Amino acid sequence: SGSTFVPAVVVGTGYGAAVSALRLGEAGVSTLMLEMGQLWNQPGSDGNIFCGMLKPDKRSSWFKTRTEAPLGSFLWLDLANRDIDPYAGVLDRVNFDQMSVYVGRGVGGGSLVNGGMAVTPRRSYFQEVLPQVDADEMYGTYFPRANSGLRVNNIDKDWFEQTEWYQFARVARQQAESAGLKTTFVPNVYDWDYMRGEADGTVPKSALAAEVIYGNNHGKVSLDKSYLAAALGTGKVTIETLHQVKTIRQQNDGTYLLTVEQKDPDGKLLATKEISCRHLFLGAGSLGSTELLLRARETGTLPALSSAIGGGWGPNGNIMTARANHVWNPTGSKQSSIPALGIDDWDNPDNPVFAEIAPMPAGLETWVSLYLAITKNPQRGTFVYDAAKDRADLRWTRDQNAPAVAAAKSLFDRINKANTTIYRYDLFGKQIKAFADDFCYHPLGGCVLGEATDNYGRVSGYKNLYVTDGSLIPGSIGVNPFVTITALAERNVERVIKEDIAGS
Ligand code: FDA
Repeated sequence: SGSTFVPAVVVGTGYGAAVSALRLGEAGVSTLMLEMGQLWNQPGSDGNIFCGMLKPDKRSSWFKTRTEAPLGSFLWLDLANRDIDPYAGVLDRVNFDQMSVYVGRGVGGGSLVNGGMAVTPRRSYFQEVLPQVDADEMYGTYFPRANSGLRVNNIDKDWFEQTEWYQFARVARQQAESAGLKTTFVPNVYDWDYMRGEADGTVPKSALAAEVIYGNNHGKVSLDKSYLAAALGTGKVTIETLHQVKTIRQQNDGTYLLTVEQKDPDGKLLATKEISCRHLFLGAGSLGSTELLLRARETGTLPALSSAIGGGWGPNGNIMTARANHVWNPTGSKQSSIPALGIDDWDNPDNPVFAEIAPMPAGLETWVSLYLAITKNPQRGTFVYDAAKDRADLRWTRDQNAPAVAAAKSLFDRINKANTTIYRYDLFGKQIKAFADDFCYHPLGGCVLGEATDNYGRVSGYKNLYVTDGSLIPGSIGVNPFVTITALAERNVERVIKEDIAGS
């Protein structure tokens, strides 16, 4: 056939993908990574690689005609969004009927757009979610390996206490404490020393210039600077960008044949390629990997795939909410876009919540305290293949988020009561709404470990086919998920290289 053969293909360049590619490269396996988004290393005409949050342009969004910011309104006015040209920008909002999912697009996946919060989950909850995974191994070996590979670091507490850039977090901490709640510092992959330099005026600003969801021009150690740089450094790994995998089939000799569309950044189709490989790793994220496998099962190109594919999806209990502070409690016109503190009430038996104290870097005083609450919602969604649209559709209804809203409300009602404050109702679109229950940042599940795959991400029904990303985690992990995704990928790929590849 006219296809190009490579020993291993990794689809995507997010956390699971980057870990797999690095370890394959170190094992001497020639590996091709296929990424539908762009490599973000070229400055635009303004001298910056990425645009900021306050003046978004086409670089912000994945083929949209208008930006779709999570905090779309202020006093119900749509101030944050702009009309733009459709372009291969860095942040996508995938809109399903009753849930929208934000994902990163580009070399580095979600690491390009996320807040960098690098949280190791509570061991007891990890064991509850993934009981078949050896927790001693995870906490002894793979979580430390992930933290070091990601270059996780901690904020200097003295600096935190005195800098104007974290006044918003100190105000929110004080109010949590007056309600009897405890807060905890949250490690990050943003280089805190660089941020201090930003505050001192010695280096260009990024976190302190309202950059995050559309990319950070400086400071953040995204995957392109950590795992992917190391992967390329093995000399065995190459990355093709603006290459989207569409279909997967298995050939008679057991190898996999992919059809791949190459586009230009404006969306024009440049080529349709066929690439074959012996070992195929899916790291396209919860939405991407699940869609590829569902399509393969439903169109009959991988007919032996299990009925478990598509199941076990959840938004990690994500609920965003905001409070209005009294005029004597300003949160500051200067806010770092990188969160540093969380309210940890996960031990609350009735309503476990871990709430990140989020910035609202509007550049002016808003008196707003914003939070991304992670709750323990047992509800799960299911992806189904929509043949007419040739895409995975998410079966998830708004009312499935009611337990998550209730948990968040119980915590923030306590804080409001203790501080005689109220919610903000104007930030989440045109309706009067205190809890954003219709979007998430933390899509998890779709190809659940031990259900759609074996205990190491080997896809059931097929040899040499693996899932490596957030789709392995069954819908909830109780904290921001990328450290867990990374650590699990480290564990799985080590086993796969040893048992399936090293001797073959
Ligand atoms: P990930 O989504 O990272 O990567 C998948 C990649 O595959 C993407 O680059 C995509 O373009 C590509 N792809 C998809 N389909 C493809 C196809 N068919 N062909 C080729 N390429 C394809 N987490 C956290 O721990 N701390 C935090 O602070 C935050 N904050 C945060 C903020 C925002 C705004 C968002 C959107 C997300 C977060 N997250 C987060 C979540 C975190 O970013 C997320 O959990 C991980 O990026 C998921 O990693 P994966 O490896 O699963 O895939």
